[in-house]
Amino acid sequence: MKFFIDTANLEQIREAQLLGVLDGVTTNPSLMAKEGITGEKNINKHYVDICNIVDGDVSAEVISVDFDGMIKEGNALAALHPQIVVKIPMIEDGIKALKYFSDKGIKTNCTLVFSSGQALLAAKAGATYVSPFIGRLDDNSTDGLDLIEDIRLVYDNYAFHTEILAASVRHTMHIVNCAKIGADVMTGPLSAIKGLLNHPLTDIGLAKFLSDHKKGN
Ligand code: E4P
Repeated sequence: MKFFIDTANLEQIREAQLLGVLDGVTTNPSLMAKEGITGEKNINKHYVDICNIVDGDVSAEVISVDFDGMIKEGNALAALHPQIVVKIPMIEDGIKALKYFSDKGIKTNCTLVFSSGQALLAAKAGATYVSPFIGRLDDNSTDGLDLIEDIRLVYDNYAFHTEILAASVRHTMHIVNCAKIGADVMTGPLSAIKGLLNHPLTDIGLAKFLSDHKKGN
């Protein structure tokens, strides 16, 4: 299972990279705005800065919602750095854009996916990644993990190559349950990734080992 960090914060990306378990980064326009990154030039520079920190794929989202605009923006984003994955919204022109980039050999991430039908379309169009937003489904009284399970079934039935990227992950149990179901990738905040470290018996056990070692010396 790949671990992506879902942020545009360079410090957090560096911290996750130093942990040694980071496989990539996802961003979206809201995450860029949160870091105060505005204007095409600054946004593009920020994507390159992120690529220079991590080794893996970095999703950069288009703002256009029409085919021509998405193609123009996506080509420009892909030209920024070989690690860039063009993030395309799940809309009709988005499907056409996914197919265009797939035919060109440019990696894509289909975002804002909330149903297995949408995920099926994204896979048919050749998306590299599909991003079901599990946290936002949970926020709406719908079990996001059920969607991951359904997409896994659909993709396995036909051996689609599109990777299931569980997005909108909020906490450690989302990560663990996505791993059980067989999501290929999860993207979440640093707090959720580092939360996997936690167990009180580890802390108690380590404190005892260290105090016993001291006694023996
Ligand atoms: C990542 O690709 C998504 O944009 C992100 O996970 C959405 O997360 P949120 O629902 O916490 O905003």
